[in-house]
Amino acid sequence: MKILVVGGGGREHAILWRLSRDGEAHELFAAPGNGGTAGIATNVPIGAEDIGGIVAWAKAERPGLVVAGPEAPLCAGLADRLAEIGIPVFGPKQAAARMEGSKQFAKDVMNAAGVPTAKAMTFTDSAAAIKALPSFGLPVVIKADGLAAGKGVVIAQTAAEAEETVRSMLDGHQFGDSSASILVEEFLDGEEASILALVDGADIAILPGAQDHKRALDNDQGPNTGGMGAYSPAPVVTPEIEKFALENIFRPTVAELKRRGIEYRGVLYAGLMIGPKGVNVLEFNCRFGDPETEVILPRIGGDFAQILLDCAKGRLTSPISVRTEACATIVMAAPGYPGKYPKGLPIAGLDAAGAVPGVTVFHAGTALKDGATVTSGGRVLAVTALGNTLRQAVDAAYAGVRAIGFDGAHYRTDIAHRAFARGAK
Ligand code: AMP
Ligand code: GLY
Repeated sequence: MKILVVGGGGREHAILWRLSRDGEAHELFAAPGNGGTAGIATNVPIGAEDIGGIVAWAKAERPGLVVAGPEAPLCAGLADRLAEIGIPVFGPKQAAARMEGSKQFAKDVMNAAGVPTAKAMTFTDSAAAIKALPSFGLPVVIKADGLAAGKGVVIAQTAAEAEETVRSMLDGHQFGDSSASILVEEFLDGEEASILALVDGADIAILPGAQDHKRALDNDQGPNTGGMGAYSPAPVVTPEIEKFALENIFRPTVAELKRRGIEYRGVLYAGLMIGPKGVNVLEFNCRFGDPETEVILPRIGGDFAQILLDCAKGRLTSPISVRTEACATIVMAAPGYPGKYPKGLPIAGLDAAGAVPGVTVFHAGTALKDGATVTSGGRVLAVTALGNTLRQAVDAAYAGVRAIGFDGAHYRTDIAHRAFARGAK
């Protein structure tokens, strides 16, 4: 099958890599792809948010499937536009992508569906928000309603910080239209985990759970990032919690959307907080997670293209088979990330890393320059390994990391510490 994957990060490289392992040899394209996807797909120079460009390409090339990686094109209507020209697309239409595009919409759906989630109130007026703050206690969570490139959530530790955040989002237009409306939300304690589900409009298939590491430095210190590493399975996601998520989170959410006339097709990602208040949804995303995808897809069996196509066409039938091996990924980031960082640093040792048993190196922010691979983003590589145990997977991934070098490369050395603290082998 001819397949276009939209996006150019580690997630998209992992999707293409998994498609390349199907029994059938697909004709793979990436828009725009990166230095790693170039090895298994044809990179098309169209940006992931250039909807007109993607639709024009699809009109001319007639792929059998388009797989959308990031949220922005989905929230802007990519799936709707492709459906109009009869191209099957894996990813929700704009109305369904609001589950990520508007935190208030997602909260309304959850409340209507009885899905457990933190108590929240929505505000467009800063004086009203500030007046309500004391009733939430401290810390308090303040969220921009719309997409804010992962920067729209602040956990305020003091009343002064909370007030300042409210003012800068609502009055200072910190995130433009995305913070024209905000949520003030109850802080929940516990351990975070992600459960992703494939949804075909009605049927739901849960994928194996995963955990990522959002902070830049070891021991979960330093600034928030897009994710510095991940692993699957995550011991905190027990079979009971998976069952709970299917029955009490995914089913009622998809049913409530349907009640509103919205059919959800694609991957629905639930970011969970598991703690003293039980299992609560912190957020929904309308796409695969990054770097969760890098550790979930290597564990999925079967014909991946067929699974995605079935999902896109509303005929998901077969259960998803999951390999028993564990998978871990370590993100190697550019110096300075998540702040300012240089680009164009030459990367050495990619072949040696790929030769470590079990290791696959997914490229997140790389480009090819005169035949050599150089850095082109903040998160540069997701060095990934399968192992019989999580420990073996983590050790193999770190062996891969040690084989790779670029100036100022930064990575965490404690990926999966929560799993090991819970007794994972
Ligand atoms: P979100 O984009 O809503 O997932 O928020 C980003 C991050 O903020 C999450 O991954 C959590 O670490 C944190 N967070 C969000 N909501 C809450 C909450 N109600 N309580 C505690 N932490 C939260
Ligand atoms: N790793 C978090 C996300 O993809 O949103």
